[in-house]
Amino acid sequence: MCDRIYLDHSATTPLRPEALEAMLPYFADIAGNSSSLHADGQRAKQALDAARESVAEALGATPREILFTGGGTEGDNLAILGVTEALKQRGHHIITSAIEHPAVLRTCEWLETRGLEVTYLPVDADGIVDLATLRASLRPDTVLVSIMLANNEVGAVQPMAKIADLAHQHGVLVHTDAVQAMGKMPVNVDHLGVDLLTLTAHKFCGPKGCGALFVRKGTPLEPITYGGHQERSLRPGTQNIPGIVGLATALRLAINELPAQSTRLAALRDRLQATILTSIPHVKVNCAAPPRLPNILNVSFAEVDGEALLMALDMRGISVSTGSACAAGANEPSHVLEALGLAPEWLQGAIRISLGRTTTNEDIDDVLAALQQDVPRLRALATGA
Ligand SMILES: Cc1ncc(COP(=O)(O)O)c(C=O)c1O
Repeated sequence: MCDRIYLDHSATTPLRPEALEAMLPYFADIAGNSSSLHADGQRAKQALDAARESVAEALGATPREILFTGGGTEGDNLAILGVTEALKQRGHHIITSAIEHPAVLRTCEWLETRGLEVTYLPVDADGIVDLATLRASLRPDTVLVSIMLANNEVGAVQPMAKIADLAHQHGVLVHTDAVQAMGKMPVNVDHLGVDLLTLTAHKFCGPKGCGALFVRKGTPLEPITYGGHQERSLRPGTQNIPGIVGLATALRLAINELPAQSTRLAALRDRLQATILTSIPHVKVNCAAPPRLPNILNVSFAEVDGEALLMALDMRGISVSTGSACAAGANEPSHVLEALGLAPEWLQGAIRISLGRTTTNEDIDDVLAALQQDVPRLRALATGA
């Protein structure tokens, strides 16, 4: 990203060159419609089939269980709206958590306007849902539990296998939003035990606007859009072949590199965290306890406005975030940090620094030097000292 220091990989990631190279032929040279019977169409179809196989293998699924979508928001909507519609005779209650991405929360809120009941599970100070509360919330009319695998603002990782096990004991289906987890931790649908799983390419150095939804064989699902027979008629519309090829390429590479990258990123994150804590007073790391993603550091600076700090870093050529990109600019405290029960003094001064495959040791040195100057300066300005 030019000469800037990009530390907002949880918002989105730069497309990796290998994915770009794999995509390029499918924009013009191999531009057939994968539904066409002629040779041009069949070449596109071959790429689509190969990508589906590759994504299925990455998740421990079968190709038929993979639907390509237009990204994470669409995958979450299709999972939640599609299952609740398919099971509307069985029940009208779903369970989610208070710290979900808006792609899940707003969808659940819309369902509430249509008469469904939604339980929003609280989380503890480390951002983890309590299994006993989940157990107590499961009802005979519950049709779906939708809980994210890893949180986009603080990186907390949920005990998904236990959540799925508990829900299944009550005959309830489980969806997880694994958008932030993909490429940052192992993700296998059988180990997690989930019935539906959402991912999106632009969080692991693939293209924007392209994702996938895993739907376990036999899971009842209605489409939310109507049209052709593509994606088993569950996501009709001509497939985005360049995007899908880019997604599959980026995912394969991210998974190959996962052991080395997750160790490297965790070490960089830990050094960043430790140095902030020892060199800047009145600081709190949010959700520092494992299990958490290796690449996200969410940190609150008392007596500092997070947005002012973001702008100060931006002027130095460093990109960070105050929360999720979708909430940025809303100037409201993050619903995730509120759900952690943070005191007001910590809510306002939180920033998220998220690392990725292009992050270097020097980037960490530079953001540390910037924070060590900007935090005291902004504090002095705020107190008029
Ligand atoms: C946890 C989570 N879910 C869903 C999404 C939405 O994905 P997309 O931007 O591909 O629609 C995001 C993106 O910020 C996310 O972080």
